[in-house]
Amino acid sequence: MATWTVVTDWLSTWGVIKASGLTAYMLMFVSVVLGAFSYGAVIPPDVKKILLPIHQTTGWFGFLFGLLHGAALMIDGYRPFLPGEVLVPFASGFHPVTLGLGTLAFYIMAAIVISSDIMRKLGRKIWKSVHMLSYPMFLFLLVHGAVDGSDADKPWAFLMYACSAVIFAEALLIRMYVQWKKKGGQIEGLARGR
Ligand code: HEM
Repeated sequence: MATWTVVTDWLSTWGVIKASGLTAYMLMFVSVVLGAFSYGAVIPPDVKKILLPIHQTTGWFGFLFGLLHGAALMIDGYRPFLPGEVLVPFASGFHPVTLGLGTLAFYIMAAIVISSDIMRKLGRKIWKSVHMLSYPMFLFLLVHGAVDGSDADKPWAFLMYACSAVIFAEALLIRMYVQWKKKGGQIEGLARGR
């Protein structure tokens, strides 16, 4: 046990928890915002070809850094979390609601990554329904990071959360507008007998 404490102290698990949480957050931010623009007709196909792999890669790495964040919490030398506190949403004795949102966000990420891998088997409709959960997922992460992060009161962290929230909201609004226009176009097309 003493050796384990030396290892976790040397690793500075707290630093790993913070760095992996922030990295996962930033990667997910890039992935969700690019994802919002990678479908629909906002961006020309040539640009989409570049955006789509970045969207997928940042999503994958965001998920992996999220895994590291959860694993480091369980071996933290100062306040180790029990597996149940990390894995069961809202079960933690510390900040249960906002940590629960972190857990839910992690499960949504896992569902998105897995469903994308087996997209052909699932069919596009089910895959898309799962993928659309990435919008609430990012909101959960935003609340979790801004409330639970010990850096959240620092000016740089405030700026990071504020800027990402504004850009996310804009991307979501543009995405909803494009969807709404697309549906309107379909109705118009049907009315013209097409
Ligand atoms: C993949 C999903 C997750 C992401 C992207 C994420 C992201 C973040 C971010 C950005 C922070 C703020 C770091 C800072 O300001 O220093 C944070 C802090 C924290 N997260 Fe998560 N989180 C996730 C899942 C979880 C889960 C499942 C738990 C446990 C139930 C958890 C527990 C914590 C704790 C305790 C802190 C505070 C660390 C500190 O003292 O700064 N997170 N997380």
